[in-house]
Amino acid sequence: MTTPAAVIVDAAAYARAVEDAVGAAAAYYTGGTSPLDDDAYDRLVRGIADWEADHPDQVLPGSPTGKVAGGAVEGDVPHTVPMLSLDNVFSAEEFTAWTAALARRTGRDTTRFSVGPKLDGLAIAARYNGGRLTRLITRGDGTAGEDVSHAIGTVEGLPERLAEPVTLEVRGEVLMTAAQFEYANEVRTGHGGQPFANPRNAAAGTLRAKERVYTVPMTFFGYGLLPLPDTDRALAERLDELAHSELMDLAAGLGVHTSARTAVPDTVAETPEQVLDRVKEIAAVRAELPFGIDGIVVKADLAADRRAAGSGSRAPRWAVAYKLPAVEKITRLLEVEWNVGRTGIIAPRAVLEPVVIDGSTITYATLHNPADITRRDLRLGDHVMVHRAGDVIPRVEAPVAHLRTGEERPIEFPGHCPRCGSDIDTGEERWRCAQGRNCHLVASLAYAAGRDQLDIEGLGTTRVVQLVDAGLVADLADLFALRRDQLLALERMGETSTDNLLAAIERAKAQPLSRVLCALGVRGTGRSMSRRIARHFATMDHIRAADTDAMQQVEGIGAEKAPSIVAELAELAPLIDKLAAAGVTMTEPGAVPPAAEAAPDGRSGAGAPAEDGPLAGMTVVVTGAMTGSLEKLSRNEMNELVERAGGRSSSSVSRRTTLVVAGEGAGAKRAKAEQLGIRLAAPDEFAALVAGLLA
Ligand code: IVH
Repeated sequence: MTTPAAVIVDAAAYARAVEDAVGAAAAYYTGGTSPLDDDAYDRLVRGIADWEADHPDQVLPGSPTGKVAGGAVEGDVPHTVPMLSLDNVFSAEEFTAWTAALARRTGRDTTRFSVGPKLDGLAIAARYNGGRLTRLITRGDGTAGEDVSHAIGTVEGLPERLAEPVTLEVRGEVLMTAAQFEYANEVRTGHGGQPFANPRNAAAGTLRAKERVYTVPMTFFGYGLLPLPDTDRALAERLDELAHSELMDLAAGLGVHTSARTAVPDTVAETPEQVLDRVKEIAAVRAELPFGIDGIVVKADLAADRRAAGSGSRAPRWAVAYKLPAVEKITRLLEVEWNVGRTGIIAPRAVLEPVVIDGSTITYATLHNPADITRRDLRLGDHVMVHRAGDVIPRVEAPVAHLRTGEERPIEFPGHCPRCGSDIDTGEERWRCAQGRNCHLVASLAYAAGRDQLDIEGLGTTRVVQLVDAGLVADLADLFALRRDQLLALERMGETSTDNLLAAIERAKAQPLSRVLCALGVRGTGRSMSRRIARHFATMDHIRAADTDAMQQVEGIGAEKAPSIVAELAELAPLIDKLAAAGVTMTEPGAVPPAAEAAPDGRSGAGAPAEDGPLAGMTVVVTGAMTGSLEKLSRNEMNELVERAGGRSSSSVSRRTTLVVAGEGAGAKRAKAEQLGIRLAAPDEFAALVAGLLA
């Protein structure tokens, strides 16, 4: 897929674009970090090329379209043969057009192609003299590059001695594998340095760093062999005559690492169709490769074809890069969420400013584990490099440290399990809730016992953990089977707390159906939804008898939510039976079951909400602190009261609101009610309205 070229409207915009692109390219080739990701750079350069095509007389000398990217620096080592770039194609059509142009140049319609991965690293020339590695030179501006011989010994796949005492130049790509990149950032940030944004920058930065107290390994892949002035004639002639595939065999035989031993070795294709098949194959495994590729390089394999095709000043005409969609984009890290998995693993997840990568909008990305966040020195508000390939979950690669403004904030790590509140086992890199697989049970029991559900005083997380650890409860219904002697045997459980807890559990049995339902923790049914369901169906039997159509009769439950609620309730059937057997209330006081034809107990009724209460037909919002006889009621209890009185509770004031109960300190909601002319009632007035229903 080709993203559109940047649109450049005038000469000033063109000059700015050239400046941006040159800056980005310089950063790209010298190991700095560019504020443009690859995709943005490509779009900019295509925009520049479009503008230049319309204004050929105004092309700036420094334009990235006209020269080999990257700039030579004084003191650079000249290349014996220029190190060129590659032209890109982005689709099968563009590739076919390229093969047609190649055929015209070679004068033959059949060409053998060599097809291999386009490695996402930096080009380097390695000079061997008598089989010994003597010099490493970066590409620089293509005619001369920087001497980076100090890196000899740190680049895997580039032996210091070849298998034969030959004199020649090996060209190829230096990169960091995923593991090398992780390690590089770990050591770098460990030494107080700023992390590299991606493996490519890491390889570039590491290669050029002269005096480092630590060594970071990199990997080399050879993709070319050429003679040096001192190469003996016979070998030089041989190198000029060999097919690319043969050169690669020769390189591998000399001990140089090539793509041959990877999952994507260079292969020979006899036709453009075969090339396209191979492109698809390589693209399909891209996400699983331990190193980055940004395309596929297609080369005329035979020396004669290469010669016939020749080279331009920027790129050879015998090779082309079939670009794959960018898998990396820069965006901002907004938040970090901590999610607890089935086994209690607590995993951080990045919430990102949405960014489109290869056609999908990415909003979340994995951050692996807390150690990883520390290693990468990530901060909230950072610009981050996000990587997404294939169906693999997107990941945050690293911050783009030079884009920091100083406003970034540290990422806070949780002190307790974010789901159940227990301690966290931080002994391993992957943090885990101390409750492990029981975490979910602890969290759901603590939730069920909460004030707005079964309101079992004295049953907080710590106590729940004790009960679960002692093997006394494995589900909610087990709470109701707890015996005095069992509780007394627990640590820190005296007679009084035991009796209090047992009494609280006993009282919980009388909680209305709405709260029992809420305690079950069915997804998508919080407090108010549980109340609506309970009031609508009036009994647990009616709720369980409801199919998705019947469930959708409840206000606020649509076609999407209904099936999952029905399915989850069916799954909970054994637990519900167990709760009913323990004597837990399964009816909603004051509610009447719907006039369903097939109500399981044969009863019929008018359906909820109650239409005859003092608040019948009213939508009520409660805000501020309650006083007087309502002082002790939680917001949830106030909402329950509204609904028992036939009203509908809501949390936000709108034109549909009919009454706002405004307690002490009521602010914005009261103001909005005044503005909309909605009736306001003080807690006492409201208490008088619902007097008959107050316990
Ligand atoms: S052949 C004349 N083969 O891509 C250049 N290049 O964007 C012939 N690259 O400068 C290069 N993988 O640094 C070749 N398998 C591969 C490659 C490859 C990566 C790089 C190389 C080149 C750049 C062009």
